[in-house]
Amino acid sequence: MRRLIFTAGLCLTLFGATRALRGDAGRDALEARVDALLARMTVAEKLGQLQQLDGFAEGDFRPEHLELARRGALGSTLNVRGVARVNALQRAAVAESRLGIPLLFAFDVIHGYRTIFPIPLGAAASWDPAGVERSSAIAAAEARAVGLRWTFAPMVDVARDARWGRVAEGAGEDPFLGAAMARAQVRGFQGDDPAAPGRLLACAKHWVGYGAAEAGREYNTTDLSERALREVHFPPFRAALEAGVGTFMSAFNDVDGRPASANPFTLTRVLRGEWGFDGLVVSDYESVRELQAHGVAADEAEAAAVALRAGVDMEMVSRLYVRHGAVLLHGGRLDLATLDQAVRRVLRVKLRLGLFEHPYADDVPESDVLLRPQALVEAQAAAARSLVLLRNEGGLLPLRRDLRRLALVGPLADDAQALLGSWSGDGRKQDAVTLLQAVRDEAGTGVQVEHARGCGIEGGDEAEMQVAVDLARRAQVTVAVLGESAEMSGEAASRSVLGLPGRQLELLQRLHATGTPLVVVLMNGRPLALPWLAENVPAILEAWFPGTRGGPAIADALFGDVNPGGKLPMTFPRSVGQVPLYYAHKRTGRPPAEGKYTSKYLDVPVTPQWPFGFGLSYTRFELSGLSLSATRIPTDGELEVAVDVRNVGARSGDEVLQLYLTDVAASVTRPVQELRGFERVSLAPGATRRVRFELGPRELGLLDAELRFVVEPGAFKLRVGQDSTSGLEAAFDVVAR
Ligand code: GLC
Repeated sequence: MRRLIFTAGLCLTLFGATRALRGDAGRDALEARVDALLARMTVAEKLGQLQQLDGFAEGDFRPEHLELARRGALGSTLNVRGVARVNALQRAAVAESRLGIPLLFAFDVIHGYRTIFPIPLGAAASWDPAGVERSSAIAAAEARAVGLRWTFAPMVDVARDARWGRVAEGAGEDPFLGAAMARAQVRGFQGDDPAAPGRLLACAKHWVGYGAAEAGREYNTTDLSERALREVHFPPFRAALEAGVGTFMSAFNDVDGRPASANPFTLTRVLRGEWGFDGLVVSDYESVRELQAHGVAADEAEAAAVALRAGVDMEMVSRLYVRHGAVLLHGGRLDLATLDQAVRRVLRVKLRLGLFEHPYADDVPESDVLLRPQALVEAQAAAARSLVLLRNEGGLLPLRRDLRRLALVGPLADDAQALLGSWSGDGRKQDAVTLLQAVRDEAGTGVQVEHARGCGIEGGDEAEMQVAVDLARRAQVTVAVLGESAEMSGEAASRSVLGLPGRQLELLQRLHATGTPLVVVLMNGRPLALPWLAENVPAILEAWFPGTRGGPAIADALFGDVNPGGKLPMTFPRSVGQVPLYYAHKRTGRPPAEGKYTSKYLDVPVTPQWPFGFGLSYTRFELSGLSLSATRIPTDGELEVAVDVRNVGARSGDEVLQLYLTDVAASVTRPVQELRGFERVSLAPGATRRVRFELGPRELGLLDAELRFVVEPGAFKLRVGQDSTSGLEAAFDVVAR
């Protein structure tokens, strides 16, 4: 059986050759500058370029940073920001050190700098890469205005365990959607050239496998096969690389027996050898020092040596390279070539950013760039696109315009800080409009909007709960705003259960018992297990942490000015006991079925509460006319798939068409289905759009038993639908030429 075999290296060689043809001359000139500078550097100055230190949280640098910069003993900072501060520290490096090598100023601009957009999991729920690119571009422009040149984003860890708090920062469970979001963010942050005004150098993190932390417990070990790495966890990083990302960050976790920050396979063989990445790798926060805790380094010097040798170029915050580098060199435990290679990568990135020509931040008033009206408009539109309608029994939403009395209750109804979510950059709660304020603005004077918290996100007392219940009893509709605090997701925020924290469910059940029609708005950083709500609450809107303008976006959706069109980027389980639970699961030899001896639980269905790709609308869409350009294609062939989608309801709305592929039989076990295409379309009532997808070797291929990328002849099925469980199906064959 002849199979079309693309070795990963072959793909990369073609990729690299094209790029080289384009930029050969410029590249050689830049490499010559690197070589010339490197030749003049002392060992201490080389080690200094590999050192990143953190400033104070509010943005000032530490006094010692000035001294280190003057000595050429500092390469980069994180958290230092503000034009005056950046330029003062930069001047010490550029004007006072022997070689004048500029510093690289970094910060975590994850989903906005001052204008905060939905958390990345919410952004992924928009299934709108173009929108995510626009948001990232605005974030870059704001961050650049305060002197920053480098962001530690996008976070592209694929995650399938909602107990892990950092699912909030990524694009969820799927490599294909994750790759699309990675590309969009890199393009938004960097544009065509991260040196250009208003752009930032991006960083693909956390390389690699961090999202597979065992038991969803933060920083826990991950034991991933090379197949799992290559099929599930690598693709979004590869997409970021293909989009031109300039840096990677090595992760905290150990993967397949070796810490990601000391792993020659991932850091050198794959990233450099197979993929040809020539930017820099920065460690995560003290992850070099942590190699001792992992038990792979007996002391600091050994930790420095194994990390550098493996391919971690810059050390974030811990100082083992600077402290031990010279002794390692002189003791023969570190080659000068290894040190020079790391320094070369740092200098290359700084030269590509134009830092030597333009080391200082433009002295533009921050107020001219931050929170611009257009940024806020885009933030509200992004929040609206992230909303996912999970239930709407009886069309309770959108709320009637003739409403006279509305109870808006719950701990998150008037919580401005929560709107911003985790990793909220320099976002400020005073810039945010809460849902309570927005509902009052939206509802107008004709509607009496009464508010009570009812309980805290955690805790609460009887009296407070009773006040909310009494409000609900008097109201025509109750909207309960429930979920997690911003601190319950993000880093160091794993949860062992996935229900509503505290007494929120008790509050909800008592609100329900009043008989007043009940709507729930969820604000959370991860999928939650909400079986009682799924059974008893007629209308549920998932809002994630929607950012600075999230309140008005949710209010618009509640009253129908916005028609929710988002889809779940991560499966919502019925119970935490099902986790990890994801759509692209393997078949097993005994797929779940009626019989006792099949893969399932005694006490909960194997199906999710709400599946990947799911989301309702205030209107209805129908699919028809599924067509394939062929029913047989060669292993190197292309297949065009087309389908009509029609808005058969009375409101304009968005639908996300999703194409899932099934490889019926292969030389290795394959997921039951895999997302291989999607498009979000906006349609007026009665309108129809014909949506097209292309399937070629890249979509049809797999990693065979030897982990080679191949396209195998055989039977395939595809389904185009509105989520991962339904749609129009077709079959086709791939045949050997
Ligand atoms: C943190 C995170 C990483 C972040 C870095 C700098 O621990 O793991 O995502 O970019 O430190 O803040």
